[in-house]
Amino acid sequence: MNNNIILIGFMGVGKGTTARAFAARYGMYNIDTDDLIESRENRSIKKIFREEGESYFRALEQETADWIEGHVSGTLISCGGGFYKVDNLSELGTVILLEASFEWIYGRIATSHNAKKKLKKRPLFAQPEAAKKLYSEREKAYKSLADAIVNVEGKSLDEIIKEIRRASR
Ligand code: S3P
Repeated sequence: MNNNIILIGFMGVGKGTTARAFAARYGMYNIDTDDLIESRENRSIKKIFREEGESYFRALEQETADWIEGHVSGTLISCGGGFYKVDNLSELGTVILLEASFEWIYGRIATSHNAKKKLKKRPLFAQPEAAKKLYSEREKAYKSLADAIVNVEGKSLDEIIKEIRRASR
């Protein structure tokens, strides 16, 4: 196996923040699928959605998954919220789901110091009702793909990264 840790979960659950803290603590490299796509396309996720549409973005996610499968090992990979749909997720590493209720996630985003920016860069979070529907649609799929589930509600970043460490060994 390639020893990667794959963090999946809904938009705003804290995958990026958690991945950076984990990488810093355990001396591991960390990449993010949205960042890889933005670099490759030289434009933001928001722009890709606006200019090309969602299916184009999903195809880029699959290409990114194929590239990771062929080239990346020993790395913590945080994934965009819809990345779980790629057809080779389980080949990429140990899949850890970061889980929280929709209400908690929405609260986390709405009360963050850069709430506007967080909402703006996520086209699928623009309408809370639609985002909640998406959350319900994905809940089961996330769980069925996960090798381990870490609930993040009410936990410190420190506790969360320790749980990820335990689950990925
Ligand atoms: C998406 C989540 C986003 C980003 C894109 C689509 C989704 O990533 O990939 O806006 O389908 O849930 P984050 O989960 O990092 O916000």
